[in-house]
Amino acid sequence: MPGDGIGKEVVAVGERVLDAVSEISSFSYDGEPFDIGSDRYLRTGELLTDEDVSRLGKKDAVYFGAIGDPRIKPGVLEQGILLKMRAVFDQYINLRPVSSWFPLVPLKREVPFDIHFLRENTEDFYMGAGGTFGAGSPSASVRVRRGMYDVDIDLKGSSTGGDDFAFEIGLLSRRGVERFADYAFGYAAARGDEKVTLVDKANVCTHIYGMQREIFEQKSKEHGIGLEFMFVDAMAMAMIVRPETFGTVAVPNLFGDILTDLGAQLQGGLGMGASGNINPGGLSMFEPIHGSAPDIAGRGKANPMAAVLAAQMLLESLGHREEGAILRGAVRSCLDRGRTTPDLGGSLTTAEVGEEIRSIVLGGKR
Ligand code: NAD
Ligand code: IPM
Ligand code: MN
Repeated sequence: MPGDGIGKEVVAVGERVLDAVSEISSFSYDGEPFDIGSDRYLRTGELLTDEDVSRLGKKDAVYFGAIGDPRIKPGVLEQGILLKMRAVFDQYINLRPVSSWFPLVPLKREVPFDIHFLRENTEDFYMGAGGTFGAGSPSASVRVRRGMYDVDIDLKGSSTGGDDFAFEIGLLSRRGVERFADYAFGYAAARGDEKVTLVDKANVCTHIYGMQREIFEQKSKEHGIGLEFMFVDAMAMAMIVRPETFGTVAVPNLFGDILTDLGAQLQGGLGMGASGNINPGGLSMFEPIHGSAPDIAGRGKANPMAAVLAAQMLLESLGHREEGAILRGAVRSCLDRGRTTPDLGGSLTTAEVGEEIRSIVLGGKR
């Protein structure tokens, strides 16, 4: 599902690389392209349709590029395609690794780090639960429909102080937090981490993040894994001064979006940040964390490494760990030899980096 802008360019590379992987290993795939994104929307008005959902539901995994188009009002494609896909397939974990790819790390100290962000991916301020009310119409109702539940909220405003309001509700459900916590502690145990770091703003958003803290404390005891709390503002600072002190980090949806762009820059830039939208028992989707980058689209400048690292995560999720490691090694080899796009100081195009990675996979280069 290449989507828009540089999504198309980097997914084309990802496909070439996956083809190479399938030539050298037992991995094989039968990719079906999905025409989803701004062009189709402008042509037909369709975003992610019921038919798309039912076709996707039969797949083993989704490989996604990016959506976003300056011709379309912000939110239409994002909510109608990407957030809808995460919600419909209940991909409640967004796994975003942040690794020290020296010498790309822009920090003064050369300390290795390997943070695995687990961003909650279906709740919080991402549910589209909001509206407007005011002097003219003093009440508002919000309907939230998600894979997991439906909620109706009515705000009967008798007095609005004569002003108009817009609001966006951050909602957490007990079930949603419990499964998030179970996944986080299970993940930490599998990685051999002694603790989970939970990032929040429980000193301000006391209702949602207060409940989240209680549930994480309970789950920490159940799993026998430690728990550390960090406020999100302090976390942003700590990622710069002591990234090596974090392992498994659980973060609610909105803060996770922000911190992982910071995390991408710690790895060299948005062109290095990969992610998996995971439904542990269902269909998962793998994508770079960057967007459609209209400022560089169509010019062969996009770094395809994030998309290749997303393909690595896709392979690993399907049980092809060795093949995943080959892709990671190929990216490392390109970095070591300066065979990169301009964002990382090189002079190759998107497609040239792809061919370089491909030939390493095929054994043509070291
Ligand atoms: P962006 O991630 O598209 O770009 C931010 C900056 O990083 C730009 O200067 C861009 O040139 C650069 N950049 C991004 N990826 C790069 C790469 N692979 N190689 C080199 N440089 C890269 O974010 P934005 O500009 O805020 O958003 C553009 C559109 O993308 C918006 O419509 C937004 O909603 C959408 N978006 C989509 C996704 C997604 O599909 N997952 C993610 C983020 C943003
Ligand atoms: C991301 C993106 C999306 C998000 C947008 C495009 C909806 O920024 O994948 O990080 O906020 O999750
Ligand atoms: Mn983002």
